[in-house]
Amino acid sequence: MQGGRAALSKSVRRYMNDSSRVGAMTSHFGVLVALRGMLLVTFMSTSIANPLNSTGSIDQRVAKLLAQMTLAEKIGQMSQANASDGYAPDYLGDGLRAGRIGSVLNVVDVVVVNELQRIAVEESRLGIPLMVGRDVIHGFKTVMPIPLGQAATWNPDIVRDAARIAALEAATTGVNWTFAPMIDISRDPRWGRIAESPGEDPYLASRLGAAMVEGFQGDDIAERGTIAACAKHFAGYGAAESGRDYATTNIPENELRNVYLQPFKAVVDAGVMTLMTSFSDLNGVPATGNEFLLREVLREEWRFGGFVVSDYDSVRQLAIHGLTGNDKDSAFEAVMAGVDMEMAGDAYIKHLAELVEEGRISIDTIDSAVASILRAKIRLGLFENPYTDPAELPPLGSEIALQTAKKAALQSAVLLKNDQEVLPLSTDQLNSLAVVGPLADAPYEQLGTWVFDGDRETSITGIEGIRDLVGDEVDVNYVRAMDTSRSRASKSFDEAVEAARGSDAVVLFLGEESILSGEAHSRADINLPGEQAELVRRVREAGKPVVAVIMAGRPLTLTNIIDEVDAILFAWHPGTMGGPAIADLLFGVESPSGKLPVTFPRMVGQIPIYYNQKNTGKPPSPDKIVHIDDIDTHAPQTSFGMTAFHLDAGYTPLFPFGHGLTYAEFGYANIRTSADEVTVGDVLIVSADLTNHGDIAADEVVQLYVRDLVGNVTRPVRELKGFRRVRLEPGQTINVDFELHTDDLSFYGRNMRLTTEPGEFHAWIGGSSETKLRTEFCIIACN
Ligand code: BGC
Repeated sequence: MQGGRAALSKSVRRYMNDSSRVGAMTSHFGVLVALRGMLLVTFMSTSIANPLNSTGSIDQRVAKLLAQMTLAEKIGQMSQANASDGYAPDYLGDGLRAGRIGSVLNVVDVVVVNELQRIAVEESRLGIPLMVGRDVIHGFKTVMPIPLGQAATWNPDIVRDAARIAALEAATTGVNWTFAPMIDISRDPRWGRIAESPGEDPYLASRLGAAMVEGFQGDDIAERGTIAACAKHFAGYGAAESGRDYATTNIPENELRNVYLQPFKAVVDAGVMTLMTSFSDLNGVPATGNEFLLREVLREEWRFGGFVVSDYDSVRQLAIHGLTGNDKDSAFEAVMAGVDMEMAGDAYIKHLAELVEEGRISIDTIDSAVASILRAKIRLGLFENPYTDPAELPPLGSEIALQTAKKAALQSAVLLKNDQEVLPLSTDQLNSLAVVGPLADAPYEQLGTWVFDGDRETSITGIEGIRDLVGDEVDVNYVRAMDTSRSRASKSFDEAVEAARGSDAVVLFLGEESILSGEAHSRADINLPGEQAELVRRVREAGKPVVAVIMAGRPLTLTNIIDEVDAILFAWHPGTMGGPAIADLLFGVESPSGKLPVTFPRMVGQIPIYYNQKNTGKPPSPDKIVHIDDIDTHAPQTSFGMTAFHLDAGYTPLFPFGHGLTYAEFGYANIRTSADEVTVGDVLIVSADLTNHGDIAADEVVQLYVRDLVGNVTRPVRELKGFRRVRLEPGQTINVDFELHTDDLSFYGRNMRLTTEPGEFHAWIGGSSETKLRTEFCIIACN
């Protein structure tokens, strides 16, 4: 090892002596550089070559290191310490010197991170650098829309770019590992963490999860500015009973494989370096101790070569679940199941050595866990470049970062309703506009959940965006009306009504603050909180066109306000650039183009309601349902259609998966396939014509759905199998085609093997999961 601070490059030393620089950078709005240009920056190397490790293949380097390590040092690599309180080098220094810590989380001061790396690299016996983890979930300083909002873009390119920006910004602090993407399928909007998820569909989640991994990890993970991704939470977390976070999940293996595991397989194929276990109990075995998931599926079937980290202290929680009786047995179960690194707890550090000495855990098991961690560190280039010089990376909050955040916000907003085409608003036709509501000017709240490092100072709100856009042309009358979305007080409502009366139109900014979604923030009632519905009703009395912009971390049940407003733009939590993006959409600078990545129920009792459900033996239809209010009490009936519906909610959602309106007018026609039959192993083309009959250029997300009519296990009524975002000029017609390989139609049947079954299929193309434009084809077996 090279000696002391002298080994650091001059620039790193400069940063270690000047911590104020980092703070100053947060407010620096950087130069206009294209994303591509950023990626081509040639980085200075601090080149700390560790003689133990610098030569040979990755496996040789790992083997050489392992041969030198004591059992205690190996266990150290398997342990991650929380570094969030106080000056971490003071309280972690001894552990680092003794080689008892392999990773830290929650430290984002580059000076501190560099010092922790220095102690690990230069003062520990083997000089193994640290993985530095952080939840960089949807941006770092520049905050992108929440992941559920990003999923509404149906745009892998923007999702990739957003992750790239997040990685570049996070890397300035020395963070080299993010705990994202979260790819838990969720069919339950009550669950607070649906905000972090890609929604309900395994195909959409797979495509977007893979794009996020590519964005974080780049083309070359050893390059500066790339960080290791961590797909989470493996697996099933999103199926928490009643959407109550951390609650039990029971998912039959068939459903687990066909739905919940699919995105994880996709990110493993995309090269994700790490996976995190779920907190939850899956079918009786908590995920952190679940050998079936972590060994059988992940390692044996999928050949995952990265490493698995537990969730925060979830190893010790195995005892709380009741899977084990104490921390020692929890350490045993987790290691045997395949958890390579323990996050934040101390079960590994305290008990693994004894478990090895007792012969309960073999040294080979330990070695293979440590090897996968060392491999990741080598691949990240940490042995050569453990230190960070922020000056080698693009500045925080650069113009390109802000533009990416705005583009993502523009594409994520979903126009749910637009009666009489009240939107777009026009500065030519409006003299005055009332802007009302608790979320019109809430810079922090619009960032959403998981924004530890998000910069609220640069967040631009809806009212700011509107004022900037309309300038002097329109008088903007702003009334907050409620302190928060949860307020019960209605004393300012009169003022809001007055503003509405005195204006040509009203834009209401409603929804939920960031605190109402995210981890441990589940809700049982997902109506607009507080007195917001009453505010809508009161404002409606003014008799002006009313547009609702809703910011939220989840689908909300909007049944009680849907008829009180003319238009609804669902903006999720749109991030730093939410305001300008919303203003552009309201005034038609750009057409809304987001599509729902998750079904919106009419009422909570319908949950779970999702588009890719099974048909049942008694499928409902409009003529086979009855509404509770229509039951004739004088002539009691015994049968109300005998189908799968709710007497008080029917069977359809308020808004279906894939739904999203536009200011253009898109028409689909002429769906066809390249052949009537396709042989197993071959490709079929399914296509349709798309025309923009409107008078504005706009993006449309074209969606392909398929139904396998007969299966050895029943198949969903529709499954998304392709999508593409396209832009059409007014009057333009294009042909949109999708390649469908028969492998894309495979599924896990009764024998739990992935198979494509010959038979009849239906295919639909359109702008939502309810499209009616259908064709048919057959898969035939090869001879
Ligand atoms: C969450 C993880 C997160 C971890 C570290 C846990 O509570 O479930 O998603 O990555 O904390 O912050």
